[in-house]
Amino acid sequence: AEEPEEASAFPIWWRTRRAELLALADDAPAYVYSAESLEQSVAAIQSLDAVDRIFYAMKANPHPDILRLFEKAGLGFECVSPGEVERVRELFPKIDAARILYTPNFAPRADYDFGFAQAGYLTLDNLYPLEAWPELFRGREIIVRIDPGRGRGHHKHVRTAGPQSKFGVSPDEIDRLIAAADAVDCTVVGLHTHVGSGIRTPDTWAENALFLASLRAHFPKLRLLNLGGGLGVPEQAGQAPLDVAAVGALLGQVKAVHPDLELWLEPGRFMVAQAGVLLARVTQTKQKGDIQYIGIETGMNSLIRPALYGAHHEILNLTRLNEPAVQTAEVVGPICETGDVLGHARRLPKTVEGDLILINTVGAYGHAMSSNYNLRAPAREIFMQ
Ligand code: LLP
Repeated sequence: AEEPEEASAFPIWWRTRRAELLALADDAPAYVYSAESLEQSVAAIQSLDAVDRIFYAMKANPHPDILRLFEKAGLGFECVSPGEVERVRELFPKIDAARILYTPNFAPRADYDFGFAQAGYLTLDNLYPLEAWPELFRGREIIVRIDPGRGRGHHKHVRTAGPQSKFGVSPDEIDRLIAAADAVDCTVVGLHTHVGSGIRTPDTWAENALFLASLRAHFPKLRLLNLGGGLGVPEQAGQAPLDVAAVGALLGQVKAVHPDLELWLEPGRFMVAQAGVLLARVTQTKQKGDIQYIGIETGMNSLIRPALYGAHHEILNLTRLNEPAVQTAEVVGPICETGDVLGHARRLPKTVEGDLILINTVGAYGHAMSSNYNLRAPAREIFMQ
C-alpha cells in the first residue's frame, strides 16, 4: 500500500516492511531490529577513510544477532564491563583480542585483571588504578582517557567531559600519570576522549583529535587516538542528520598532519538507533479534563529514555498509518509512575484498543536500559533479516 509521506519524518526501513510488522502484533510488546538498516550503518561508518578502526560501543545494544552482523563486517567491540567482554568471547570464541577494547570506569580492581587477560586494549579513566594497584600495570600498554574540559550531547546526563563529569584524567595530571606509568614500565600507546552522546555537529571528532594530538609530545610511544563515540541521529522531524562525509573530511585533515597516528572511533547509537522500532498494542484510552491519553501495553520498563532524558521518539499508529491525525494525545504506559509517558502531545489518528503503535529510532539504549520494574517484563526482541 502507498503510505503518505508525512506519516513519518524519517525515510526508513519499516515503511516497506509494514505488513510484516503488523503480523507481529501478537508478539508485542517487541523491539524489532532490521538487518538491512544495520548494514546501512556499517556502510556509512566504514565510508570514513581517515578512521583506521571502529569499535562498536555494545552498551547501546548487545543483542547477539546485532553483534554477529558487526563482527562479520570487521568491527571491534568497545566493552564497559566483564559481562560485555564475556558476551563477545562467548559469541566469537576465536576473535582476535585486538578487536576488544575494554573501558572500565570506577570498576573494582578485579575488573582490571580480567580486562588485561581478556581484552586487547584497556582504557584507563582515572589515575587511581595505576597508583593504587601499580603491579597490575607492570609492562602493560594502555590507552588513557583525557577530559578535554568541555562536554557535548543531547542531555546533561550524557555529557561525559567537563568539570561536572566523573570521566577522564585532567590534562593537569599528565606529569603524575607519566611518573606512575614509568614506575612500572607501563607504556601509554593511546589517548582517548569521549565528550558525550547524541552529537550532530561534525567538527566534534576532529576537535577531539586535535585536542589529543596537542598532548602527544608527552607520550613518545603514542600510536593511536580514540576519538570516542557520540555520533547522533535525528530524533525529530526537521533535525538534520549528522553529516558523516563532513566528519570524514575533517578527520582527513587531522590525518594529513598526524599520518603516524591511528584514528579510532567507538560509536554506539549511530550504529543501531535507526535499526530498531518498538511495537506495542493500545490497551485503553481516556479523556481526563483537557487531556487525551492513549495507553499502550509497555512503558518506561521497556523504554526509559523519554522519562530519563526527556528524549523524543516519534510515535505512529501503524494500524492506521494512512489515516489523518485528528487528536493530540499523551502516549502512556502501564507503569505506576506519573513519568511513564512515552510521548507528550503527539498528533495521532483516531486510535482504539488493539491498534499497533510503533515507536521509532529505539535501537540504541532501548532494550539495553529496560527493566522489570513493576514486575512487568520488558518488550522482547526480534531480529528481522
Ligand atoms: N564511548 C564511551 C567511552 C562511552 O561512554 C559511550 C557512551 C560511547 C562510546 C558510545 O556513545 P554513543 O555513540 O552511543 O553516543 N543512555 C544514553 C547514552 C549513554 C551513553 C553512555 N556512553 C542515551 O540513551 O542517550
